[in-house]
Amino acid sequence: MKVTEQIKQPVGYEMDLFEQKFQLSMSSKVALLNRITHYIVNRKGKQMRPMFVFLVAKMVSNGEVCERTYRGASVIELIHTATLLHDDVVDDSNRRRGFFSVNALWKNKIAILIGDFLLSKGLLLSIDNNDFDLLKIISIAVREMSEGELLQIEKARKLDITENIYYEIIRQKTATLIAACCSLGAASVKPESVHVETMRKFGELIGMAFQIKDDLFDYGSAQIGKPTGIDIKEQKMTLPLIYVLNKVAKKEKKWLINSIKNHNKNTKRVKEVIAFVKDNGGLDYAVAKMKVFQAEALELLHTYPQSDYRNSLELMVNYVIERKK
Ligand code: IPE
Ligand code: IPE
Ligand code: MG
Ligand code: MG
Repeated sequence: MKVTEQIKQPVGYEMDLFEQKFQLSMSSKVALLNRITHYIVNRKGKQMRPMFVFLVAKMVSNGEVCERTYRGASVIELIHTATLLHDDVVDDSNRRRGFFSVNALWKNKIAILIGDFLLSKGLLLSIDNNDFDLLKIISIAVREMSEGELLQIEKARKLDITENIYYEIIRQKTATLIAACCSLGAASVKPESVHVETMRKFGELIGMAFQIKDDLFDYGSAQIGKPTGIDIKEQKMTLPLIYVLNKVAKKEKKWLINSIKNHNKNTKRVKEVIAFVKDNGGLDYAVAKMKVFQAEALELLHTYPQSDYRNSLELMVNYVIERKK
């Protein structure tokens, strides 16, 4: 059995039901909207976030989930989808999940508005059902994601990012949503329990490893369903580059900064920068840091008794750093 199937097994029933509910949660009376949301649901991603919601909920409650858990999972996936639509506009990216991105097909205006629509659908799903505790977890994540993307833009403009600021950016833009998945999964079945905070921390650690992995993909040439090599084009400085910038001689640092500042749209130059980062151990360093977050996440997970759900979460943590897309 493939590892992804193995991970899903203890929540297979929930994930199948989730899929139906998720699809319904996007419906609208506007034909153009329905056409585009159809396009989106037909190209689903890895669905790691709802999987975290269900696995955590079942782990902390000995196998129980409730309607709140399903709604929470839908809200998170709606918000995740909305941020991807917006992110592809921000990053000027034309591919997503192996197909054209919404902005590539329907242009930026429409991608932004569909993103807003999905965001409001998500928030309303919580509000209409009085899931205010879950709504709070989700709203914090939404605020932090916007702040993280903006901090990233600010640093891309000034090119003055440090390793610690990088961690702050990825914590905000990516880790908080995965933290929200785990904390919401716990809160949906055991509100106000200690699990809500423990699982938030667990998700945050995985989220950090997850984004470092995503940033490593950008340095490769594997088919991951979205463009590679675009981070430097967008003057996005990620961990491999930050590390190399801090360790090389002044002259080389100047060349790197100049390349990113003035030659970021020059494909040949970007390739040279990527090769330079690789030759100077940038990827190895990022992999090592990713593994530190992974180890911390596993340590926290192991404070829970062994179960099918814990096993799956453990596989999931390892999948985050070994995945091929
Ligand atoms: C992509 O997330 C956005 C990041 C935070 C890097 P995923 O890699 O989970 O995207 P899908 O949903 O599987 O396409
Ligand atoms: C992901 O950052 C952050 C959010 C979607 C909020 P990236 O810009 O690296 O994600 P991808 O690589 O486009 O999926
Ligand atoms: Mg992007
Ligand atoms: Mg990326």
